Amino acid sequence: MGISFLISFALFFSCIASGTAQKNPGFDHFWLVQSWPPVYCLKYPCKNNPPLDFVLHGLWPVNSSGHTLKNSSHKFDDLETTIENLPFIEELKSNWPSLASTNYTSFWKHEWDNHGSGQPLDPPDYFLAANRLTKNVDLLSTLRRNGILPDGTSHPITDYVDATKDIYGYPRLTCVHRYLLKEVNLCVDRQARNFISCNHKERGSTTCGKNINFPRSVKMANGYIWTEV
Ligand SMILES: *[C@@H]1O[C@H](CO)[C@@H](O)[C@H](O)[C@H]1NC(C)=O
Ligand SMILES: *[C@@H]1O[C@H](CO)[C@@H](O)[C@H](O)[C@H]1NC(C)=O
Ligand SMILES: *[C@@H]1O[C@H](CO)[C@@H](O)[C@H](O)[C@H]1NC(C)=O
Repeated sequence: MGISFLISFALFFSCIASGTAQKNPGFDHFWLVQSWPPVYCLKYPCKNNPPLDFVLHGLWPVNSSGHTLKNSSHKFDDLETTIENLPFIEELKSNWPSLASTNYTSFWKHEWDNHGSGQPLDPPDYFLAANRLTKNVDLLSTLRRNGILPDGTSHPITDYVDATKDIYGYPRLTCVHRYLLKEVNLCVDRQARNFISCNHKERGSTTCGKNINFPRSVKMANGYIWTEV
């Protein structure tokens, strides 16, 4: 019994390993994509009042040159039920809030269909990893400690990178209009466990100019400008 247990154990892991290679060609690591709501909402009109803090947009698998993998080869039946039964769903709501849709299940399903399906973890482990990684990130405090505040003042992009790199590894930044900070992508190893530095190629694919800022006010879907005090 001990031996057959060991054999099935070994088989189990070799199946995982080969399944990973076949199902997710090119998969190298993840981006934990942290959005700054005031800029995110310029692109995706927000319906829910966002927190004035970075929020998780998604956990995206990428290849080694930093292209997101979107192949939906990893289908999962009855994803809605799985999502709604996650034991940490309330925590997930605050760590991975839906800004542009009032329906959390459809937002998370959209993220799974577009990104989750391009990586090896099954949905419960994938959502658990996203939740756990996000709990370990506090970008706003990290930037604030380095004098970079959400007050519309511009700072060199290198200041943002220097503030974050020792804690989370080198990040990849994306912007709207090249000067408004939209997202900070933190690189995560392929086991979805630890932060790693983003490589030169992906860091080079930033959409930000040399000086960037992040504003406080949020333009909502209804045109209302909302600012947390
Ligand atoms: C990553 O994906 C992009 C887009 O599909 C592709 O052009 C590039 O060659 C890939 N990089 C590697 C290292 O596979
Ligand atoms: C997606 O994955 C499936 C199954 O592994 C494969 O047959 C298909 O060619 C892939 N499509 C792309 C665009 O990579
Ligand atoms: C929320 O979205 C899910 C997935 O698209 C759907 O099954 C469900 O009916 C929606 N719920 C409401 C209240 O609209």
